[in-house]
Amino acid sequence: MKPTVFLDREVPLEVEKFIAEHCTIDKWDGEGQIPRQQLLEKVAHANGLLTAGASIDAEFLGHAPHLKVVSSISVGYNHFDLIAMKERGIIGTNTPHVLNDTVADLAFALILGTARRVAELDRYVKEGHWKKGDGKTLFGTDVHHAKLGIIGMGRIGEAVARRARFGFEMEVAYYNRSRKLHTEELLGVHYSELNELLAESDFVVMLAPLTPETNQLIGKEQFSLMKPSSIFINVSRGQTVDENALVEALQAGTIAAAGLDVFEKEPIPPDHPFLQMQNVLTLPHIGSATTQTRNDMAMLAAKNLVYALTGQTPPSIVDELR
Ligand code: DGY
Repeated sequence: MKPTVFLDREVPLEVEKFIAEHCTIDKWDGEGQIPRQQLLEKVAHANGLLTAGASIDAEFLGHAPHLKVVSSISVGYNHFDLIAMKERGIIGTNTPHVLNDTVADLAFALILGTARRVAELDRYVKEGHWKKGDGKTLFGTDVHHAKLGIIGMGRIGEAVARRARFGFEMEVAYYNRSRKLHTEELLGVHYSELNELLAESDFVVMLAPLTPETNQLIGKEQFSLMKPSSIFINVSRGQTVDENALVEALQAGTIAAAGLDVFEKEPIPPDHPFLQMQNVLTLPHIGSATTQTRNDMAMLAAKNLVYALTGQTPPSIVDELR
């Protein structure tokens, strides 16, 4: 008998066909995200779950007595309760590698967009404010040859550093829990302690995954070290930053601008101060959201799911659950 899997979101047809060759599929085809209660009911008979952000904790696992694998269509897996999953022997998988360049492109879109005020000045033109002689009110900041500080030098960090070094001739420093000597040599980047990186960078890009160690890693004290002209970019997870401290730093001119793809609460609440700030570029968590990359991620997640249920080693089991 084929194993049963639950898909809590739509996947491309060819991905669904691949899963169907090996598994019996049940799937959510309602609007938006499946409500938690319905998900708990759906997983009661499932051997595998394909998701992208469902919280896999003790409560969830209590409702899923037959579950063997949770395959997430994401590189981040902060929605996995690793202790609870390990206790139950659940295999947890993610989708690294295939999204590196796409997320790095978006980090650069935010760097360029904030530095050259792209969204703000697009509104300016469309709202009919463009007159001759606007001059320096439209000036931005140079990206080329500026100093970039990367927090979290994993595979995406390397892809950002490559663009910065070879595309924009930037000086690149990075902070990471371990030194990356090969990357330093290959890309001409240098390691820096966090405080030093914050104090010296023109652009700081947060790429560290959300873990207990990186939760609220950047707060009031850290923003106070940054230059008033500096720009903060976050394409990791909103919780790596104390959002109130970021709002205050932007309002007080402690830093100049921020480019944010991720937020403490997503979708961002409609009354959030960021939404009123011209110097904050906000995106709806689209780091990996191109058609090609999301298809590649879905196919990799499908392989992880199927392999785990058919006695093969999934291509990308998360490190902590090996
Ligand atoms: C991921 O894969 O974790 C990204 O945040 C999704 O865009």
